Amino acid sequence: MSRVLRVGVVGCGNVTTRFHLPAYLQLPDRVRVVSLADVEPARIAEARAIPGLADASVQADWRDLVARPDVDIVDVATPPRLHAEVAEAAAAAGKHVLCEKPITTVPAEATRMIERCRAAGVTLGVWHNWAFYPEVLAAESIVASGEIGTPRLALVDYLGVPDIKGAGETTRAWRHDPMAAGGGVLIDMLHCLYITERMIGRDAQRVSAWVAGDADHPHVDATALCRLETDGPVALVNVGWGLGPGGVFIEGTEGAIEMRWQGGGTGPFVPLASMTVRRRDGGTREVDVEKRALPEIHVDAMRRLVEDFADAVLAGRDSRMTGADGLHALEVTLAAYASAALGRTVEVPLSPDDPVHRDGVAAIPRLAGPDWSPVRRQHLYATDPS
Ligand SMILES: NC(=O)c1ccc[n+]([C@@H]2O[C@H](COP(=O)([O-])OP(=O)(O)OC[C@H]3O[C@@H](n4cnc5c(N)ncnc54)[C@H](O)[C@@H]3O)[C@@H](O)[C@H]2O)c1
Repeated sequence: MSRVLRVGVVGCGNVTTRFHLPAYLQLPDRVRVVSLADVEPARIAEARAIPGLADASVQADWRDLVARPDVDIVDVATPPRLHAEVAEAAAAAGKHVLCEKPITTVPAEATRMIERCRAAGVTLGVWHNWAFYPEVLAAESIVASGEIGTPRLALVDYLGVPDIKGAGETTRAWRHDPMAAGGGVLIDMLHCLYITERMIGRDAQRVSAWVAGDADHPHVDATALCRLETDGPVALVNVGWGLGPGGVFIEGTEGAIEMRWQGGGTGPFVPLASMTVRRRDGGTREVDVEKRALPEIHVDAMRRLVEDFADAVLAGRDSRMTGADGLHALEVTLAAYASAALGRTVEVPLSPDDPVHRDGVAAIPRLAGPDWSPVRRQHLYATDPS
């Protein structure tokens, strides 16, 4: 394998044109985009102009891309429902896999993806790029340094997330389709869950949540209010396609970290306004963090992620954002949906026998929950919403 790894990208929508391709282009000594696939010619036309690819380098059928001998890494950037099929075919063809989030929509499929990549001897990474944001890295290192003592609680608000339509003509509304997306705003923004865990330094062990749709999103969650419990700190993570505020507060035994985005908005859709450390003795300190919003903050975080992934492939080690991380984030999300349906706390990891592990969000309407559950009242996640 050459030192410059050759990438083929499946799915040429917003994430590819705005973020992945610009990030790859910043790493010419690590990666080179050699091929693209999309079912829609207009999407291919827009994307191929970015790296400047010839006719022979693009195709409509992702299977043709996966079969190409000149591709080392398959970047899976389609709507979520297709991730597992493409990733498994890529692994079977001996390609490394860098998969968009959510890793897939069903935990049993994610487990199989991880096993197949391991068996094929290829590296599987997930685009958990928010872990590379400067404010997340800063919070993680402040907590790890002991400056705020032992973390006790976190309040993490992302209630003003814009609802972005897909770029493909035929799949424009995939974020509102529970089977295509795997859920609603929470699965789309599962970034908020894994960054919370990174910032408090612990993975969720139990999850409880309230979720609801709204007039524009009658079949999926447009708001998700979640509690992530560990045997140490607890976190409230609130996510919504709404007008609500954004901000992060992490309190420890000796002090707290507070982050605000401009105008009380939700980052990274608006730039960070401030990051402050407050100590119990009354002292405060402003943390010097780069203040950028989309698209720069994403492109930069993705460049770091790709750099790590390429190094991991060449060194034969795990990347920093592994398939196991993808599976865990998916399970925390689905545990939140199950909790909202059942009206009780749900433990993670889910048991392999759990219908939600086996079938993902399709199992949620079948759970025997109370009538007052908004999931039941609003018929959320119904496979046939009519
Ligand atoms: N990591 C991040 O920060 C981030 C940001 C945005 C989106 N995403 C993720 O990236 C993925 C794509 O999201 P998006 O916003 O680019 O969506 P999008 O709808 O804009 O793009 C999806 C593309 O996939 C194409 N596609 C659909 N079916 C296909 C098939 N069978 N074969 C080939 N191409 C096919 C569509 O034509 C479209 O061009 C999703 O998993 C989403 O969650 C991640």
